[in-house]
Amino acid sequence: MIAKLYWRVSVFVLALVPLLHLFWGAINEQLGADPGKALVDSLGSWALLYLLACLSMTPLRKMTGWAGWQLVRRQLGLWSFTAGCLHVLAYLFFLLGWQWGALSAELAQRPYIAVGALAWMLLLLLALTSTRASQRWLGKNWRRLHRTIYLILPLVLLHMLWVVRADWGEWLAYALVGGLLLILRIPAVAMPLRLMRDVWK
Ligand code: HEM
Repeated sequence: MIAKLYWRVSVFVLALVPLLHLFWGAINEQLGADPGKALVDSLGSWALLYLLACLSMTPLRKMTGWAGWQLVRRQLGLWSFTAGCLHVLAYLFFLLGWQWGALSAELAQRPYIAVGALAWMLLLLLALTSTRASQRWLGKNWRRLHRTIYLILPLVLLHMLWVVRADWGEWLAYALVGGLLLILRIPAVAMPLRLMRDVWK
């Protein structure tokens, strides 16, 4: 019980530190010439990283047989949602300047925003239904609904690819990890992971 709590708190602190570091940098004007854009970009990247970390938990459990990975999966998903919300808020504040009238022109000029918005809405749906009460209420449909995470990942990768355009080295690294995590969900591919678990033992 205490070990589980320590593990959850450790992951919480580990996930919180980069965001605090980012805001510390923003407050102390250490984010370069365009701090608003830097904040939007970094928060977007962190939202994607937490998403990838969340998706790694099941393959890690299968590989190692340690149930602890599963204990922090929901938390990592919520971290992705939190960073995603902060990313959207930073965009509305720094890049859009709360000019709601400019939103339609923005969408026409930057269609990747619609893809990001769709990913964010799906993340919101998963965050709202991540509670035990929702799990009980939705029964078998809960699993089906939460498989949406496998749609969110490609949406976010597409959103990012559209932004980075020519400079896609970093994107490729995220896409390779994301692609691997998606492939590992295929039962025939996941089987060797279980065999690896027997090797550890
Ligand atoms: C309403 C929803 C969203 C809006 C309006 C939005 C807006 C933006 C904008 C404007 C940029 C580019 C900023 C620039 O000019 O450099 C961006 C980049 C990015 N966004 Fe979003 N976004 C949304 C949702 C999301 C979500 C849900 C995620 C992840 C879970 C995400 C991840 C990213 C990533 C990884 C980048 C690239 C960062 C980089 O260049 O390093 N976005 N987003």
